[in-house]
Amino acid sequence: MQIRISPSVLNCDMGRFREELQSIDNADRVHVDVMDNHFVPNLSWGLPIVEAAKQSTEVPIEAHLMIENPDRWARSFADAGCEMVTFHSEAAGAPIRLARELRGAGAKVGLAFKPASAIEPYLDFLDEFDMFLIMTVEPGFGGQKFLPQVLSKTRKLRQLVDQSGIELDIQVDGGINRETVVTAAEAGVNNFVAGSSVFTCADHRGEVDILRRLAQEHS
Ligand code: DX5
Ligand code: ZN
Repeated sequence: MQIRISPSVLNCDMGRFREELQSIDNADRVHVDVMDNHFVPNLSWGLPIVEAAKQSTEVPIEAHLMIENPDRWARSFADAGCEMVTFHSEAAGAPIRLARELRGAGAKVGLAFKPASAIEPYLDFLDEFDMFLIMTVEPGFGGQKFLPQVLSKTRKLRQLVDQSGIELDIQVDGGINRETVVTAAEAGVNNFVAGSSVFTCADHRGEVDILRRLAQEHS
């Protein structure tokens, strides 16, 4: 089970985007949050940010699509070279078909769940995905407080994944810092998105290493 730290660039200094990316070159993936002001009440950016990121870093990119109708848009993020494309279970019209299309385009596939969304309808389909992203805040904004109630889902999922032998990463996103990374790791999580906790620190690279080490020690 590989531990991965994915810094979210949502609240990085966009005027220094290239330097910000270089300051996290020890990360496992760069997490790019795409928001359409429909699925979530915020608007961020689209494909051009992936293209810009690819020119500035060798670290693989994961797109987290907080958008309506991912069936229409997700494929273009795979084609743009994202290693992983994650779309929301609540937004997809035909999630299994979309997952197969993304894999066909050469990407890994993540399925995301808001904090109060049920994972149960998908438990017979674990092998169609590479990762489940369980949101630990309501999606839309960085800097929110971690919702510990969500960890009952990650615990259940970890048990099922380990029993089945299927390779599925379990990721959390929202409010991850030195404390919550430990709680989440203990609850079976192995992929962690961290936005403000990394980018408000003076030493971004150092913080990524600290979060990874804490997760490893508590897995
Ligand atoms: C929120 C985004 C997150 C966000 C995380 O909807 O999906 O990726 O940037 O930010 P922090 O780590 O500050 O909660
Ligand atoms: Zn995200």
